[in-house]
Amino acid sequence: MGFTLEKVVPWGRSYDEYASMFGLTELDLGLRILGCGDGPAGFNSALTKSGGNIVSVDPIYVFDAEQIRSRISETYETVMAQMRKNQGDYVWRVIPSVEQLASIRMSAMETFLADFDVGKNEGRYIPGELPSLPFESGKFDIALSSHFLFLYSVHLSAEFHLQALQEMLRVSHEVRVFPLLALDGALSPHLDFVIEHLASHGFNLEVRRVPYEFQRGGNEMLVIKPV
Ligand SMILES: C[S@@+](CC[C@H](N)C(=O)[O-])C[C@H]1O[C@@H](n2cnc3c(N)ncnc32)[C@H](O)[C@@H]1O
Repeated sequence: MGFTLEKVVPWGRSYDEYASMFGLTELDLGLRILGCGDGPAGFNSALTKSGGNIVSVDPIYVFDAEQIRSRISETYETVMAQMRKNQGDYVWRVIPSVEQLASIRMSAMETFLADFDVGKNEGRYIPGELPSLPFESGKFDIALSSHFLFLYSVHLSAEFHLQALQEMLRVSHEVRVFPLLALDGALSPHLDFVIEHLASHGFNLEVRRVPYEFQRGGNEMLVIKPV
């Protein structure tokens, strides 16, 4: 059956993983970036420290750091049990073992937790949830979705995906989504629907190979721009 979760969980990846998943160049990293559903990822903190311009939006940002920490602790055993059970569905090249994975993820989430209060005060962590974003049109250059859209295809409908992507395209000139696979490792059943709809409504869509692969076969992102 593969990896399953009852609901969308707070779980965070590192700066290096984001850069690799989204094929981010030096030029990209200097643009105005929006991270949608960034949760407890370490990307915002690390990019801000290196002089970048990023805002993250996620419903968990209504909570304080200690409440988010306890939600991560609740999630930890569930995710790790699923990882151990489904090890064969992952590529253990850059991350060599389940134990290393736990340590990399927890380190990224500690980076986030240490930055959260300051970042929230600076307006870098904004509570909000797709498919409606609390930003003016065209505020960002690139909007990213990591491990939310397509991954949770069982939990979120095709219509939700379309509305979420349209909203990201309202506030940003370009959208990148990774991965294109659902939790069970199969290509998202919503991918063709959103590609066909957006292509017929003035957008250029490209499935682009990236250097990152952890879910086996998950090495492509969707890039969307106005034609
Ligand atoms: C698996 S985590 C991914 C976190 C981060 N993007 C990463 O790749 O490390 C999924 C995130 O999606 C967030 N989320 C859930 N519903 C959302 C919504 N409607 N809009 C935006 N984010 C949402 C959750 O709170 C959670 O932080």
